[in-house]
Amino acid sequence: MAIPSDCFCFDGPHAYADRQLWSVIEKKLGALRAADVSSIAVVDAGCGPGTWLRRVVTHARRLGFSKISARGFDVAVAQVQAARRLARDLASVPGVRLTFEVADLLDRLSEPDASVDITLCLYSVLSHLPVLDLPKVASEFARVTRGYFITTVRSIGSAPTAFVDSIEKAKHFKLDHRLDRCELEFRNGCHIAVNFHLFAAHELKDLFQPLFGIEGLRGLDIFHTRFIPDRRWNPASVLLDERLMLELTQLEETYATDPKFMERATHLLLVGYHQPRSSDELLTGSTSPSRQFVRSDTIGPASGGFERPRPVVAASLRSKLG
Ligand SMILES: C[S@@+](CC[C@H](N)C(=O)[O-])C[C@H]1O[C@@H](n2cnc3c(N)ncnc32)[C@H](O)[C@@H]1O
Repeated sequence: MAIPSDCFCFDGPHAYADRQLWSVIEKKLGALRAADVSSIAVVDAGCGPGTWLRRVVTHARRLGFSKISARGFDVAVAQVQAARRLARDLASVPGVRLTFEVADLLDRLSEPDASVDITLCLYSVLSHLPVLDLPKVASEFARVTRGYFITTVRSIGSAPTAFVDSIEKAKHFKLDHRLDRCELEFRNGCHIAVNFHLFAAHELKDLFQPLFGIEGLRGLDIFHTRFIPDRRWNPASVLLDERLMLELTQLEETYATDPKFMERATHLLLVGYHQPRSSDELLTGSTSPSRQFVRSDTIGPASGGFERPRPVVAASLRSKLG
């Protein structure tokens, strides 16, 4: 199989957030594989052009998963068409079932209960939904997820975005927080209005805590974007060299979970894991035994305050393994 490597090229202004997010997803794939899981199911809700799902499928192949089922969906037809086009090679690889569909996250997900190992909803998809619908959407994620749920949303202290173009091209913009609606007028006369909600950290946590075990909640990119030199403004002597990058990364790790800083990040990243809902599910292992997850010891702020859940082999399977 020709493995596409370009999809792991993290560059541009969002490179830091992308790399951090990828390292979380990569670890989850690795943990599943380490638990001897050979088939995997992944869903990407609001997949856009399918960038993340292509990364997941490519890496899952490298890790040796023999059966990979991945479904991306998006409400925008053009995004789904782009995703299908970009994933054409990957979708025909033996053992890979990679599909992209037009669907609305406000509708019921097509996956059966507890059938998805990793559910993704990345980069502001939830920010586009009406807040009143979020509990219903969150419980659909919980219904289908047997492994991990990973989401990022735009935080209340984030810098503005113009969604379809760079912010400098906007002549005027205003986000009305009562209506969660952002009106933008561009210099070329184009006018758009986008439903958009900025999340407080506690709001995101409160939404998912009743449904998932929360492995971590952190800010993603508090400093990096601010430190990227703009060649239209900064002289070439202002570099983002390796040493500065390292120090920025250390700063990010220090402040990512600090309540005063977390919400100033560009995004909030929440990682949840399936929690058996009843003692019956725990005892009978009604989800696949090797795919039950528990929280483990908290690891310190140096790793962003995330806790490492490890896949645990249920008692029934453990006795078989001796
Ligand atoms: C900023 S893009 C992120 C795309 C992708 N998750 C990524 O990280 O590359 C937000 C996406 O959410 C999609 N979206 C918005 N509302 C949606 C809904 N109700 N159902 C499904 N997708 C939706 C948009 O069409 C858009 O592609």
